[in-house]
Parts: sequence; structure tokens; C-alpha cells
Amino acid sequence: MCGVVGYVGDKKAQDFLISGLKRLEYRGYDSAGIVTLAEDGTPTLLRAQGKIVNLEEKLAKNKRDDKIGIGHTRWATHGEPSENNAHPHRAGDIFVVHNGIIENYKELKEQLKEHEFKSETDSEVLAALINSFYHGGKYNLADAVVQALKLVNGTYGIAVVSTKNPDEMVVARSGSPLVIGVGNDETLIASDASALVGHTKRAIYLNDGEVAVITKDSIEIKTLNAEPVSAKVEEIETNLAAIQKGGYEHFLLKEIMEQPESLTETLRGRVNVENGTVRLGGPGLTEAELRKIKHLIIVGCGTAYHAGMLAGYYIEQFTPEITIETVIASEYRYRSAYIPKDSVALIVSQSGETADTLACLREIKKQGVKTIGIVNAIGSTIAREVDGGTYVHVGPEISVASTKAFTSQVIAMVMFGLTIAQAKGVKSNILRPYVEEIAKMPEEIRKVLSSVGDEVKGVAKKYCEYEHAIYLGRDTAYPTAMEGALKLKEISYVDANAYAFGELKHGPLALVDDRFFEVALIPRGHLYEKSLSNVQEVLARGGHVLAVTNADDIGLSVDSVVKITTSLEIFAPILMNLVSQLFAYYVTVAKGYNVDQPRNLAKSVTVE
Ligand code: AGP
Repeated sequence: MCGVVGYVGDKKAQDFLISGLKRLEYRGYDSAGIVTLAEDGTPTLLRAQGKIVNLEEKLAKNKRDDKIGIGHTRWATHGEPSENNAHPHRAGDIFVVHNGIIENYKELKEQLKEHEFKSETDSEVLAALINSFYHGGKYNLADAVVQALKLVNGTYGIAVVSTKNPDEMVVARSGSPLVIGVGNDETLIASDASALVGHTKRAIYLNDGEVAVITKDSIEIKTLNAEPVSAKVEEIETNLAAIQKGGYEHFLLKEIMEQPESLTETLRGRVNVENGTVRLGGPGLTEAELRKIKHLIIVGCGTAYHAGMLAGYYIEQFTPEITIETVIASEYRYRSAYIPKDSVALIVSQSGETADTLACLREIKKQGVKTIGIVNAIGSTIAREVDGGTYVHVGPEISVASTKAFTSQVIAMVMFGLTIAQAKGVKSNILRPYVEEIAKMPEEIRKVLSSVGDEVKGVAKKYCEYEHAIYLGRDTAYPTAMEGALKLKEISYVDANAYAFGELKHGPLALVDDRFFEVALIPRGHLYEKSLSNVQEVLARGGHVLAVTNADDIGLSVDSVVKITTSLEIFAPILMNLVSQLFAYYVTVAKGYNVDQPRNLAKSVTVE
């Protein structure tokens, strides 16, 4: 997510703004900017695409002694990464930095005709909206911010300054964190406390719906309804690394545990439970084009490939007369595959920069096939080269092992499949169960993550000495098993491979001996009994089985069982994958390996 910093005090604002933004670099970003105000209100606005070093080059020629300013690192959501779209955004006499997503920015923009928009961002709309109340003097800065925020749907963590009053800053939050650092003759703000370390140990964490007016020696907090809030000053963690990982020991665990929030961002504004429908604006396909689709090709590498495979299993369950082929990009790009008429290709990539996936996209486009991106990194190469797309909005995924992106990629593709089915007139009673389970999923993920952690940690210790593992699943649990095996393999270096349960007797069963342990994913459902009988085959040959299930009692004497409790039936495998993610994490921790940067691997494979 974006980084926000602000300073008002007796020192040079530019110094803290740059150092604070550097502290937030770990969150990932594509552009940055700062604005400071002189005593007479004269602004110095500096913005640059790319890394903060580009901003520093501009700063070197624009040094100021200004004592107030705000800054931002942008992780693009609306509008490509560019200097023009970088924050701070100006509207009249005010400057705004914003972290979050303004969902109703298009409607608001329609009402702000008098503002000459210079960017494609939702954040500039927020700046213009605040200014629409501020200019002309009808409201002071704080009240203008409040009036504007009352009209906003979405999330925000913002800081606002005005050239008319260069002694005060207004900050506010709803859904995007903001912390106020209490200093001596200075007040600092940031989107996370890591920017404050070394400047102060005293901080006030704003709560959703609160607005604060800060000066160098005062902090006044109110709710949007003007109710005074008594500020609670807390001691901040001084361990920088701990803060950047949200208090978790590794980014991987942070990213596993933040899946309720990251999936919520993926679903935001796209699911209508009342109607039992979904709406995706990004693909840009008309109802008629959706109705015509007869063939889906889903392209990806690694985890993205597994997400595509799992999504394909789901889509074919509810979409008639569609054939679905999920392919590994590095293979498909060299095949001479004929792509039938009325095909659409889903191009899946967290980074949006994977060389094989990009090359495959270009090959597919040569055949005139419409391409839809399922991407996380906004403005990435793949996101720019597809014909349309759906961003998964999970925020930066720092750990090499992909976790939160997988969950959101699957659901984003299932939602795309639902839009096809809706256009094809599939009855709502068939689609509604999928929509209802998708809507419930963030909460179900939260329940599972909060209940299995210690148990999985214990189980991981039991298996961390093994060098070989077999993951097993059937139907939607099979791509899930593939993803689980990849997770374990890529960070713990255990030789883990996945097989469809039904394939065991065609070869893999020969592997079963004391060198191996088996992870069996056994969701309730019409194939549950079949999977149990496969597990019995493994046990009969001395297998060491860890069963992951949502069934009450599998009735088999396996080595270990991790049971998940969930109301989800259709998407239970996605919740079972959380167990695989945590299992891989804790096995790796037990082995003492580098969880976030495993050997030989990169987060984005931009080479072929
Ligand atoms: C997954 O944990 C791995 N890091 C890797 O397989 C990854 O999924 C693959 O390289 C694809 O990356 P992308 O989603 O950024 O295209």
C-alpha cells in the first residue's frame, strides 16, 4: 500500500519527509513526492516516477528550510505510475497525500467540473472535493476535510496542508492506518510507525473516522461528527524490522495473516450479495462479448498457474458450454496450439513482469485473442499490454513465496467466470452459492487463521526432518495440493510434489516409504469417500499421512489431522490452502532457512 509522511515543527521538513519515505520503501511503490510550505505559504512540490533516489535528484536542486510538509510513496491503484499521478495532489491552495481507494471517485469527479484535473487518480478527486469546500473561505481546512470525507465511500489515510495556513496540517483515516508522532516542538505523521523510529517514541494511532488538526505543539482530534476524542499516547516499537513486518517475524507470515484484509480489497465494490451477482469493470467486455465466449485459456507460472487451474475447475462448474485450458506460460508460448474462435485468455501474474507470462501474452495476442489480465502490480508491463483486466489489489507481496496473491487471483478469476455465466443467463440459484461463499470468505479466512496457527506449528515440527513429501488432492483439492507442494518446496527445500489422488495407483504409490510423508487434502463433498479410500491405500503401505480436512472425523488412523472449521463448502480447498501456507512457513522456520528470500529464487522472474 502507499506510504504517507508529514512534518510540522522547528526542523527542515524535507529531511524527515525523505527519510520517512525511505523507511516505507519496503512496502513497494512506483513513484514518490513531497511538498513543503515556506513561512509565507510558498509551496515547493517535488514528484518523481520510480525510486526515491529520483526524487532526491530533484530535491538537491530545490533545498528549502520550510518547516511543514507532506510526502507520499505511491502503489498505483487508479492511473499508471507516472509523475503526473504521483502525490501530493494540488487543488487550489491545498495539497493532499492519500493512501487508500476512493470507490465513488467517478461520481464525485462529475460534480467537480470547476477543477482542472491533471491526473487519472482517485486521490486528486479527493483533493478537489476538499478544496470545493475550502476555497472561498466557507469552511476552514479541517471542516472542509470533514465535509469532503462525509461524501467519500472507500478507504483513506490522508494528510492535507494549505498555503494559506502553513502552520497546521489536517490528517484523517478510515481503513488506511495513520500514526501521529509526538515530538518536542515538532509533530510527525506516517502511515506506519517505522517512519517515526528515531524521531520519537510517543505516538497516537488514529482510529477510523477520526480527523486530527496538528501543529508543531498541538494535536486536536475529533470524529467526523465533531465529537472530541481524547488522544491516547502510546510507546512505539523501536525495532524497525519488527514494525515493517507488522510485528510478525517474517513478511511471509504477515502476508499469510493479512489475507482477510487483502481479499476484502479484491472484493471491494465487486460483489452484490443481495442480488447474488458480481460486477467487474476492468475486463471491459460487453455482455454480448461475454456471451460469445466458448473457450478460456488461463496462462500463468508457478503459483499463478495453480491459481488459474483451481479457478478453471470452479468456472466449469457453473458456466455451460465453455472449455477451459490452463497452461504453463513457459510451455504454451512455444507450442503451436490452435486457439479456437471465441476464446479469451486470462493472463495471471502477481508481479505483472514475469518474462514467460509476458512472452506468452504477446504470442496469444498475435492470434487476435482478447487478453484479460489478473494482475496485482498496477501499471506493470502485463497490465499495460492486456486488452483489459482485473487488479487483485492485495498490496505489495514482499515475500518470494506467493500467498495472499494466490487466494485473490483464484477469486478474481472465479468472479470473471461468474460474469460470463451471468451474461449467458445461468440461473441465479446456481450462481448465488458461489457469490455468497465469496462474500463470506474474508471472515472465514480470518476464523481459520486464528484457529489453526499453533496446531500447524506443532505439526510442522513433526515433519520438518523429512526430505520428501507427497501432496494429494482430488478435483478442486488437486490444484490446491499442487500449490501446497510448491509452497513447501520453494522455502523449505523439501522435495515436495503433488499428485491427483486417482493417479496414485498409476505410479506415485511406489514412492511411499519412510523417506516420505504425505499431506492429504480431504474436503467434505461428493468425492470425500473416494479420497479416504486413497488415503487407506497410502496407509496400507506405511505412509505417514497428515490429513487436512473440514470433515468432523475422517475415521482413519493417520499420523496427524488438521481440521478446519468453516461454513464454506465450495471454497473449502482455499481455506485448506491456508494450512498448507502456514505448514510451509513453520517447517521452514523449524529448519532455520530464510523464509522471505529462499535460495535461487526471485520475487519476480523477469528473465526467461
Ligand atoms: C510462487 O510462490 C513463486 N514465487 C513463483 O512460482 C511465482 O508464482 C511465479 O514466478 C509467477 O510470478 P507472477 O505471479 O509474478 O507472474
